[in-house]
Amino acid sequence: MKIIVADTSGQAFQHAADMIAEEIRGSQAPVLGLATGRTMENIYQLLVQQHEAGTLDFSGTTSFNLDEYVGLPPTDPNSYSHYMQEHLFSHVNMPAGQGHVPNGVAVDLEAECARYEAAIRTAGGLGLQLLGIGETGHIGFNEPPSAFDSRTRVVHLDDVTRRQNSGMFGDDPERVPERALTMGVGTILEARRLVLVAVGEGKAAIVDEALNGPISEAVSATAIRLHDDVTVILDEVAARIWHRNKE
Ligand code: GLP
Repeated sequence: MKIIVADTSGQAFQHAADMIAEEIRGSQAPVLGLATGRTMENIYQLLVQQHEAGTLDFSGTTSFNLDEYVGLPPTDPNSYSHYMQEHLFSHVNMPAGQGHVPNGVAVDLEAECARYEAAIRTAGGLGLQLLGIGETGHIGFNEPPSAFDSRTRVVHLDDVTRRQNSGMFGDDPERVPERALTMGVGTILEARRLVLVAVGEGKAAIVDEALNGPISEAVSATAIRLHDDVTVILDEVAARIWHRNKE
């Protein structure tokens, strides 16, 4: 596992964006696994800048997002589908239909999960998978405990997560949907390369647990240590506790 500690969050975002851009340039038909959240907004902004500067072509890229809230249609500003349009898809030349997000309003959610897994396989599997980390240690929406061989499925969101994500819902955790669709930990571990990005003091404790704590299904992010191509990108504050505790 490679751990990069950047001096500033801006440098951490730049590093992640550069890795994604390299993946896109280095592959004939790149398949990206994408994530949402405040951290990722900054990374997408840098990718959009590269596209606008004429140095990054998304026309051959396919992407699969990690997760989506159950019950929110793509028109809902809080849906991850809407997020992806707003922060990336509408600004780059990725053909419509190549940016996949699980359908949180599918009539049959189980069938939607199976369809999503099949679509990833048909695309040739995930190349670089971008990951954030939640306060519960989730990657995607794999709340504790999540089996390391879990696949795309419906999950109940932890109260901690509903509180963490309530900023987009008028600061009211009750308005955050109770359920979500998420790629499983097993789905994520099958990506060829994992890039986890965490910045800010609020992430320091969970980053330490993810990197120094016992590998356990009680902290989904510890699963990344089982993968043989992982880069963790942190800023100094997010790295502080991990750095102090590491042997
Ligand atoms: C949501 C997403 C996660 C992401 C997390 C972190 O919960 N489902 O995939 O890692 O947000 O978000 P932020 O970057 O806003 O801290």
